[in-house]
Amino acid sequence: MIPAMIQFHFVLGMTLCVVNHPIALHVLGTIRDKNTKPHEIRSSVDRIGSILMAKAFETLPTEDYQVETPLCETMQQRLCTRIIVAPILRAGLALLNSAINVCPEASIGYYGLQRNEETALPEFYYKKLPRTEGADVFVLDPMLATGGSSAYAIEDIISKNPRSVTLVTIVSAKPGIEYIQSRFPNVNIVTVAVDDKLNEKKFIVPGLGDFGDRYNGTQ
Ligand code: PRP
Ligand code: URA
Repeated sequence: MIPAMIQFHFVLGMTLCVVNHPIALHVLGTIRDKNTKPHEIRSSVDRIGSILMAKAFETLPTEDYQVETPLCETMQQRLCTRIIVAPILRAGLALLNSAINVCPEASIGYYGLQRNEETALPEFYYKKLPRTEGADVFVLDPMLATGGSSAYAIEDIISKNPRSVTLVTIVSAKPGIEYIQSRFPNVNIVTVAVDDKLNEKKFIVPGLGDFGDRYNGTQ
């Protein structure tokens, strides 16, 4: 059972955060529309990406420190953790600019995974990660369908003892959420939409179609 909206304030146990910001919902309609051209999909993803990433980064830890303004000393907060954003190639690259615009302090890691068109299983082709131990890691992939691709990356990240792992997506299918939830109960998911089902080819319905092709103009 997936609740419609759970606040994103637990440290232990998986939380699902559905970002229902009006601008994100408005832009999602544009991305879903089959007639939207690649250049408009890219600008729409940049808009939705900033909102998503701001939400995803909401639980990062901060520490107090003293700042001297031109008038006096005051207490301020600063980030006190190592942050990694890890897009799953190729579609995850669409969220990378938003992630590092919101948080330029982040290091970047990459997973190259290609979903096999016949089996829908992820096939690994590339990986490059910074040191992950103790870090807060944000896996970026606009689509969570069966969950196979994200699970591949998350399993590898968890084996390196991060402090936390969050999966950031634009559209998540219920079966994919349930799969990630069952395998990785401590992983958080931040998404704009929870779609009901997958079709016989394991595409999300209503979904966005083939996101990578639509974003890159490779249909
Ligand atoms: C897509 C998408 C996810 C994956 C989701 O990538 O970006 O990585 O499929 O499906 P899953 O949850 O069932 O694994 P895909 O490998 O099709 O292509 P891309 O190279 O365009 O990102
Ligand atoms: N990958 C996509 O791009 N879309 C889907 O619906 C499923 C996987």
